[in-house]
Amino acid sequence: MPSVYIKTYGCQMNVRDSEAVAAQLLARGYTLAPSEEQADIVLLNTCSVRDHAEQTALNKMRALAADFRRSGREVVLGFLGCMAQSRGAELLRQVPGVDLVLGTQKLHRTADYLDELLRGRRTAVVDTAPEAGSESAIREHLPALNGSTPVTAYVSIMQGCNQHCTFCIVPQTRGPERSRSIRDIVAECRELAARGVKEVILLGQIVTSYGRRPGPDGRPGWLAPDEPWPVADGDGGRPRSPFVRLLEAVHEVDGIERIRFTAPHPKGYGEDLIEAYGRLPKLVESAHLPVQSGSNRILKLMRRGYTRERFLEIVARLRAVKPGMGISTDIIVGFPGETEEDFEQTLELCREVEFDNVFLFKYSPRRNTPAATMPGALPQEVIEERHARALELINQIARRRYAAMVGRTVQILVEGPSKKNPQRMMGRTRCNKIVVFEGSERHRGQLLDVRIVRAGSYTLYGDPAIVGIAPVERGAPVDEAEG
Ligand code: SAH
Ligand code: F3S
Repeated sequence: MPSVYIKTYGCQMNVRDSEAVAAQLLARGYTLAPSEEQADIVLLNTCSVRDHAEQTALNKMRALAADFRRSGREVVLGFLGCMAQSRGAELLRQVPGVDLVLGTQKLHRTADYLDELLRGRRTAVVDTAPEAGSESAIREHLPALNGSTPVTAYVSIMQGCNQHCTFCIVPQTRGPERSRSIRDIVAECRELAARGVKEVILLGQIVTSYGRRPGPDGRPGWLAPDEPWPVADGDGGRPRSPFVRLLEAVHEVDGIERIRFTAPHPKGYGEDLIEAYGRLPKLVESAHLPVQSGSNRILKLMRRGYTRERFLEIVARLRAVKPGMGISTDIIVGFPGETEEDFEQTLELCREVEFDNVFLFKYSPRRNTPAATMPGALPQEVIEERHARALELINQIARRRYAAMVGRTVQILVEGPSKKNPQRMMGRTRCNKIVVFEGSERHRGQLLDVRIVRAGSYTLYGDPAIVGIAPVERGAPVDEAEG
């Protein structure tokens, strides 16, 4: 059978989508090639969030097409995902040699289309049409690639985003919000737990809006079409958002020890979600709160739906419930019209919050987004200069936050060998910091107490030997003050 190589760009959703496509192709009898040079089919799963990501994938595909043309090998080349969705058929013209362009709602058709291309029934396929129900179309995605089950697994809970932040292309590439049912998601988590998965990461473009949009007949978005409705509530009158209901349901799954999720929106941090951190021990003390800017004027232009003050209030509430909360964020520098003063307010917000981790982006205009035509586009030098200043501050704060962990004993979930040094093992604290330690394969999948002995750049070094061998209580942090 032909072999496939899939290269992934972009966010965790793309990683999960690539896993799903790989699982689908394996089930159809395809094999996975160890490298692109050895593959009969090369698929690039693309990202459109910034121009840089698009250019990287375009250049990669051009280089592949040129290589295969030179060597005379017949290789099927395909673009999947966000850039395929936003550019569609134009990709066939932009990169001669490409055979397949599959949008974000069509990934479950990959095997069918490859079959047709390989049998010569079609010379090229472009499919970017929306498809009802595609959010539930491919579930099977556990990568049993190297033989051992991963400790952590992604679970897609919804697709799309209706927020339409003025800089963002995602609502165009991923479409409107569509949620899977709580019943299906829980069933998937149970299967994962049965296969040895210990941690699930619930994924979506805006997970805090999970299930908020009603289905076609007005039924709640988190109910399966064949489930009775209205449902008996049984929650003692406590009002909860569909997302918190989902967290509670996943929390019930035996064998799942930790629950994470990404990406939320700050406006989704209502009291019910904040309070859930105190109530659900498997929900780890980690929150990714994309702030984007510290200036109210810019937040408004971005159409983010919260103010700097509201954002700070959410952070304070979360830290009141869980003092050891790890907080990360996304920031964009150089949004159109951003003044030095606006930028200073972003820096000031960083000093105030002291984020553990910041994903810092240079503003990149995206086609058909409102921000792309806003006045006040900044010269690239200004963007570069602000980016450098912000990065320095962010790194300085993170160094302090990491150094403050030295001497503490924390619980980690061991994921496997460290990427940088496979002789060592790595795990994550509940607050989402990576800990590297001298361990062995037998630690994989264990919740382990380690004492932090040293802090490096965005990495902690731990020593499990110092701590007693008493088993760690399920799901509970060892040290309440710091997960
Ligand atoms: N909720 C989504 C957001 C996707 S984009 C998710 O994380 O899954 C991720 C981040 O990229 C955004 O939070 C934003 O900080 C950044 N980003 C999005 N559009 C951008 C643009 N046009 N230019 C620069 N950065 C951008
Ligand atoms: Fe993009 Fe804003 Fe949605 S950043 S993914 S439009 S919440």
